[in-house]
Amino acid sequence: MQLGRLRISHPFALAPMEEHTNPPFRQLMRQFGAGLLCTERIDGSDVAKRDRRAMRLLETAPGESPCAGQISGIDPAELAEAARVVEERGFAIVDLNFECPIRRLVERGEGGALLSDPAAIGRIVAAVVRAVSVPVTLKIRTGPDETNETCLDVARAAEQAGAAAVDLHARSVRQAYVGEADWPTVARLKQAVSIPVLGSGSVRSPADAVRFLRETGADGVAIGRGCLGRPWIFKQSRELWQTGVASHEPSPAERGRALRQLIEGEFRYYGAPVALRRLARTSCYFAKFVPEFESFKKSIHEVRDLAAFRRLVTEHFRS
Ligand SMILES: Cc1cc2nc3c(=O)[nH]c(=O)nc-3n(C[C@H](O)[C@H](O)[C@H](O)COP(=O)(O)O)c2cc1C
Repeated sequence: MQLGRLRISHPFALAPMEEHTNPPFRQLMRQFGAGLLCTERIDGSDVAKRDRRAMRLLETAPGESPCAGQISGIDPAELAEAARVVEERGFAIVDLNFECPIRRLVERGEGGALLSDPAAIGRIVAAVVRAVSVPVTLKIRTGPDETNETCLDVARAAEQAGAAAVDLHARSVRQAYVGEADWPTVARLKQAVSIPVLGSGSVRSPADAVRFLRETGADGVAIGRGCLGRPWIFKQSRELWQTGVASHEPSPAERGRALRQLIEGEFRYYGAPVALRRLARTSCYFAKFVPEFESFKKSIHEVRDLAAFRRLVTEHFRS
């Protein structure tokens, strides 16, 4: 897939996910084969002001490239400034979020609310494209609700304004994350524009990822909840796509090694108190695939430091 001057080696990308797609998580997904990475959505106004929390979310390591920095907002000038900061921080792509269903954002007219106004999206994309030299992409949904599908008009406006690709989460804003994604709309979007189209929604396995590409004709598929606790989904999807056969499911010990790597990365990145708070949820995504899940879930609340965590994983993730 070609995004402006940037070549993306294969179609299996990591979907941006708030509270998940932090640097340690992204590095693990890259190690297991994700082609393109993305940060979670960050408020463009905070980025433009170089707010400390926003700058922390905009940290990236060289091994992560190509990685997109995702921002949201409504004011073209402010988003242009935020995009300059994203580029300056070393991201290979600026991704604009016009999909977020969070009420606080929608009430401010941002995120998914902008899908009602394709011309406004076109103005934002044009301002951001003028401000940076890296490719500018956008993440959208099918429309504000199931009766009002605006994604084709939005994508055409963005293409005219210079967007390098469009990524469609195939649900409406009203659907949030519930219900099956509407893949046929991704196929129609692919026919409606000439820029690369990526899509996401309801991809839970390598077979789903390959079926998504075949059925929609999309240039890329972004994997969201399907990679939580299963980073190898990227590698397996690529194998299935290229050879027709995916490698075996990892053993419990291999799952444990991936989890340890993520948690050790989170201890380094967040420090022990925050990493410990995140631990229960993060590790259960991995642990639900091992036979001793129930006992793991009980014991996780007693973990107080990294050494205890390592012991717990060694005990429960045995082949
Ligand atoms: C917990 C969570 C957080 C998300 N955060 C973002 C975000 O910050 N930016 C964004 O563009 N999409 C976000 N998404 C949407 C995903 O990028 C993706 O489009 C969606 O999860 C695809 O559906 P699936 O999980 O059914 O495969 C989020 C999804 C989830 C589940």
